[in-house]
Amino acid sequence: MKFKEVYFATTNLHKFKEAEKIFSKYGLNLKHLNFKTAEIQSENLEKIAKNSLNQVLSQHKIPVFVEDAGLFIKVLNGFPGPYSSYVFKTIGLKGILNLLGKTRNREAFFLSVIAFGSPSGEQKIFTGKVLGKITFKIRGLGGFGFDPIFQPKNHKKTFGQMDVEEKNRFSHRAKAVKKLVKWLLFKEKL
Ligand code: IMP
Repeated sequence: MKFKEVYFATTNLHKFKEAEKIFSKYGLNLKHLNFKTAEIQSENLEKIAKNSLNQVLSQHKIPVFVEDAGLFIKVLNGFPGPYSSYVFKTIGLKGILNLLGKTRNREAFFLSVIAFGSPSGEQKIFTGKVLGKITFKIRGLGGFGFDPIFQPKNHKKTFGQMDVEEKNRFSHRAKAVKKLVKWLLFKEKL
């Protein structure tokens, strides 16, 4: 690998476990940095991720990445998108289901943006996206956040009904993490 050790700065252990599983599949050991960043308000996930990364790097001189994700719902013109965290805390899953009501068009996607940086100043962005739909009901107890109401395209289960391995086969985060791992291992041009 390009670096001896790589850290994932997050307070979300679900996110860490998802990423750790992918790293270990490629024979890499991922370290956890429990670091809470002050998330800036922006309509752009990449800007949020880069800002968070720089907060971490200002205190830790290590190869590290942060990840920021959002749920974008088509009939709501992309809402909650970058405001997903606030919306989850305030109206939650039921609030989203109420907003959609009986609407038939329930298309949505998750977007994940990883910002990686090293003490040498090198910075890279990796993204992953998964298309799917918002279910009519909360289904499943697994995962976190909006997992129990998000069903990836061409699959019957919600992310909330999948274990980490299965979610990793489709998820936005898994796609972004795989790109990062390949770059770390092979310095692939992406
Ligand atoms: P953040 O990346 O932690 O800012 O996530 C924004 C919001 O989206 C939070 O409320 C998360 O719970 C939710 N979220 C992020 N990633 C996922 C996911 O993989 N599944 C379900 N919800 C997610």
